Amino acid sequence: MNHDVFPDPHAPYRDRGRNVLITGAAGGMCRGINKRLGEAGHTLLCVDLDLDRCQEAVKELRGMGFDAHAFAADVTRQDDVEQLRAEIEETVGTAQVLINAAGILDRKMLLDHDVASFRRAVDINLVGPFALIRAFAEDLLAANWGRIINISSIAGTTGYPYPSYAASKAGLSNLTRSLLMDFWGTGITVNSICPGVVDTPMVIQQVRDQVPNKVPTGRIVDPEEIGALIAFLLTDDAQSINGADLVIDGGATQIFRLFDAASV
Ligand SMILES: NC(=O)c1ccc[n+]([C@@H]2O[C@H](COP(=O)([O-])OP(=O)(O)OC[C@H]3O[C@@H](n4cnc5c(N)ncnc54)[C@H](O)[C@@H]3O)[C@@H](O)[C@H]2O)c1
Repeated sequence: MNHDVFPDPHAPYRDRGRNVLITGAAGGMCRGINKRLGEAGHTLLCVDLDLDRCQEAVKELRGMGFDAHAFAADVTRQDDVEQLRAEIEETVGTAQVLINAAGILDRKMLLDHDVASFRRAVDINLVGPFALIRAFAEDLLAANWGRIINISSIAGTTGYPYPSYAASKAGLSNLTRSLLMDFWGTGITVNSICPGVVDTPMVIQQVRDQVPNKVPTGRIVDPEEIGALIAFLLTDDAQSINGADLVIDGGATQIFRLFDAASV
């Protein structure tokens, strides 16, 4: 086996000190993700539309002793993403890990939506990740190593009341699977994470109140649990996890299916 491309699992770990680009870095989930990745020794390249909040997050991360940098970009804009690549090149060289976590949940049912609002959600949740991956793909291919992690949602695997969210996340999970061909035979893996209800400001109180009755573990997911999963995905032990939708929902989707079947 070519161990330049597929590291020998018995060789000493080469897991530390990757350059990790993470979008939506000012958001609730990224705080937990970045804490775990900082603890694992990675450099955090934090990207958000909202530079002020992103800088605040970076200040906190630096306060914890981590190597973190803030960048402003609207991931739906190709020129922003290309500019971001140039800024990252100046700061640390290349990004080796791409985490697409920027996203919006537009709580509109069909009749509240129009084409513009639907398109905006698809732009942020699906076109943005595509733009970022497209802009950095050649860097990953040149290095023959990389991790691409798309933060999708269980809403993309089941029906959901808010169609722009469910459809864009389903698209993101299928974009993940569809990129495997492009990275065939390289050290680059592409996976989605499908969280359930995670303890962030995105989650409304009504949903929080339902957690004990709807989630078999009886608890909301902590953002650091998403970070711990990602930290593992960056290790050589995870090199065969590829094209997966990694569900981290306390068993919620499985039990919803049982309820649905029982109520027909
Ligand atoms: N919170 C949950 O329970 C949950 C569950 C499943 C999936 N998710 C997904 O996890 C990700 C993070 O969620 P969160 O709870 O931290 O959300 P959040 O709203 O706290 O953070 C999202 C961040 O994305 C940024 N952003 C929005 N549009 C952008 C753009 N065009 N360019 C760059 N940045 C942009 C926002 O400024 C914000 O800081 C999202 O993709 C979300 O859909 C969240």
